[in-house]
Order: sequence, then structure tokens, then C-alpha cells
Amino acid sequence: MTETTSPKPTKKVFIKTYGCQMNVYDSERMKDVLAPIGYGPVDGPEGADLVVLNTCHIREKATEKVYSELGQIKRQKAKTGGKMIVAVAGCVAQAEGEEIMRRAPVVDLVLGPQAYHKLPEMIARVHRNTGERLETEFDTMEKFDALPKQRSVDGPVAYLSVQEGCDKFCTFCVVPYTRGAELSRPVDDIVMEARNLAAQGVREISLLGQNVNAFHGAAPQVEGGEDWTLGQLCRHLAKIGGIERIRYTTSHPRDMDDDLIAAHGDTPQMQPFLHLPVQSGSDRILKAMNRGHTADEYREIIRKVREAQPDVALASDFIVGFPGESDEDFEATMQLVRDVNYAIAYSFKYSPRPGTPAAEMFGHVPEDVKDARLQALQKLLREQQTAFNKSKIGQTVPVLVTGRGRLEGQAHGRSPWMQAVHFDGPAELTGKIVDVKVNGATMSSLSGELIRAREVAL
Ligand code: 5AD
Ligand code: SF4
Repeated sequence: MTETTSPKPTKKVFIKTYGCQMNVYDSERMKDVLAPIGYGPVDGPEGADLVVLNTCHIREKATEKVYSELGQIKRQKAKTGGKMIVAVAGCVAQAEGEEIMRRAPVVDLVLGPQAYHKLPEMIARVHRNTGERLETEFDTMEKFDALPKQRSVDGPVAYLSVQEGCDKFCTFCVVPYTRGAELSRPVDDIVMEARNLAAQGVREISLLGQNVNAFHGAAPQVEGGEDWTLGQLCRHLAKIGGIERIRYTTSHPRDMDDDLIAAHGDTPQMQPFLHLPVQSGSDRILKAMNRGHTADEYREIIRKVREAQPDVALASDFIVGFPGESDEDFEATMQLVRDVNYAIAYSFKYSPRPGTPAAEMFGHVPEDVKDARLQALQKLLREQQTAFNKSKIGQTVPVLVTGRGRLEGQAHGRSPWMQAVHFDGPAELTGKIVDVKVNGATMSSLSGELIRAREVAL
């Protein structure tokens, strides 16, 4: 499924994406910007005319990966006689700017997350060997307005960015500095993009934002009035024909309002899955992180969500070894995990980020203590994830088929709870929602037997 108005590709672009779903979305949009000037995507840097690294700055490791990748790219560029254009995009570009070109002269272009629509113009400047090679202005709305209205999609699942940036300033996090202030797109623009996706066969959309439930987009022009909340937006998108599943990520506990929680119970398209990062279970640490809520307030939100949608699967992010974290604080995190019982969670060792308040705090936790805590937490989370997956054995679950499975004759899809599901079935089912009886589960996926393809004769 591709856009029909672009010329046949004459040049190759390789885009490597690091980090969050926001970057995945942005990489897709960069492809849309590049298609009209003749660039078609390829799977590796070998022989590419353009290489874009869409980078992540969230933890030190993520940033370092970019520089080591640039070392590899340098060799590839030499093989093209130096013709390959190398661009660094994303949050490292935003945070480090010109420093990247100093540290890695192989880089021709540096562009921050708000500048992707300028990519063709920047490539032209490289060819002419004139003009600015760095674009790190913050103008989120200009980016959204300037990106092509058409999107090329790849399969029945798509991301749709509804807001960017963050004003929360958690003391450990670089996002407010790299992605800028919170900004929501107008509802009309989002609906247009969603309709366009549905028309191209998308059945499931994931609404994206660094703080997606802080969404407050301008109401549809015909209706006017106050900005809409995420709950209102989801209910509205649910009415678009073809959109069968709606998700959103990532949320902040402080913005989890009652209407959004209610929508989980009364809007069938809202999938029973909520990624609601808590970071820590200790009130002292939550305060030092500037999260703006206590562990019990978080537990209360979870209680309300489960009341509205008892079937919901919960996900979270955790940081261990935040400055000042004692054994007791860490135990409070373990207790919160036991209380909530997660379907999946992501956990990280605290990584000091230059320019953030936490990096200057006292009481940095030794690396070996961080390691031990991370191991203990991940063991518990793995047990919960496996138990959650196994709880589906024997159930018949609706699976949105996303493509061919790894083995011959197998298809692959996604459950309402974000689990990967494999079953024997034809790849032609791609884009359909089918019933699969689950008969096996591991920590990372489910397997089952095709019972019924709801919309097709088998
Ligand atoms: N160190 C470790 N983890 C971090 N995260 C954000 N900043 C840091 C940091 N400095 C984690 C948080 C966030 C996820 C995207 O990354 O858990 O929710
Ligand atoms: Fe970072 Fe906190 Fe904003 Fe999330 S809410 S993006 S962790 S500052």
C-alpha cells in the first residue's frame, strides 16, 4: 500500500530509527517527504544515496549507539566515493546540534524533530554545497502543516501523532528540552489523517504523543468551542468506518481524566491496554522526580481503569537507581509492581542526562547497586508478563492479522492486549480480524489455532 502520486524511485534512502514510537512515526513521515523527490526506502546503508539516523537521546547508551553507527556509515560512505548524504535527525540532533558534525565529520546534515519537512530543501543545499546544514528550530505546527497530507502505509496498523512535546519536566528527562513545549494538533487535521489511513486499509491506529493524554486539540471548525480532550478525540475517531481499534501512548498519570477512563469501558474500539508509566513506587522518589503524584494516587487511577474495563492489560516504565534511592524506596517499587500486576513493563537504570536537574542531585547510586535492583525488578516483571500471557491459554481472542509468520504457512497478528500471536493460516488474511484459540504462550508471544475469519470465507 503506497502513495500513488510519487514518481518511481530513482534513489535509495536508508532510515534507521532508534528509541520511541514517536521516532517510528517521524521516520515514516520522512519517507513521505522524500518519495516525491525520487527516494525509495531500502533495508541497509549499502549503496544508499541517503542515510538518515533518527536518533534517541533519552539515555546515555542510546546516544552512544548513534556515534558507533556513524563509524560504520563512514566506511559505507567511502565506498560511494563520498557521494552518500548522511543526515542525523531526532533528539540527539536537537540536543547536540553542530557538535555532531564536529565529532563525526561524515555527517552532512543535522535536523531536529520539528524540521523533517525541510529535508528535501536541505538535501538540495548539500548538492549545491551552499547554505545551512543544521535545522533545529522548534516549530511543531509548521512541521505538521508542511508534511504531505497523504501518507503511505505499510499494513493494517499505523501510528498517528496527535501531540508533541512535554511540559512536565520530570527531573531525569531530556524530552522537554529536545521535543519542546507540549503542543496538540487540531482535531480536524487528525481526523483527516485518520480517514486517509482508514481508506488505505488501516484498521488499528495508535495515537502518539510524549504526553498523549495531555492532548487538548482545537475543536472541529464546524463545532468550535473548547479544545477537545483525548477521550473526546478517541470517541470521535471510533466513528470512522474501518477503524476497529484505537490505542494511545504514552500517558501520564496526572492527565488520566475520568472521561478518558470511561471511554475504555464504553467505546468498543478502545483496546483494553494502557501504558501508564509510574517510574517508581516510592513517594519520596516520585517527589524528587517531580512526577506530581504519589504511589497511592497511581494505585487509585489503576483501580478506576480496571473498574471501567476489567479486561485491561497494564504496562509501565520504571527507573531504578534514581539519585537518593534507598533499599526501602526500591522495595516500594517492587511492592507497587506486585500490587498492580503488569502485562508488560520497561525498566531502566537511571542514566544522568546533562542539563537535567537530577544529574546535579546528591546521592548517585553505585552502578552495581543499580544492576542488582534492575535484575530483581526485571525478574518480577518477566514472571508477571509470562503469567499474563499464559492466562490467555484456552481463550478465543480476536487477532488483527499483520502479515506472514516466520514459519511457512503461518500468519502473524496482534491481540487486543498488544501480544504478538502466531497461528497457521494464509497471509491473505492480512488486515482482517480473526478469532484464534490460544493454545500456547511464552513471555513474548501467543500461539494458537485459527477458529474463524470473521469477514472472509476460508
Ligand atoms: N534514565 C533512565 N531512564 C530514563 N527514562 C527517561 N529518562 C531516563 C533517564 N535519564 C525512561 C523513563 C521513560 C522512558 C521512555 O525512558 O522510564 O518513561
Ligand atoms: Fe519525560 Fe516526564 Fe515528560 Fe515523560 S512526562 S516525556 S518522562 S518529562
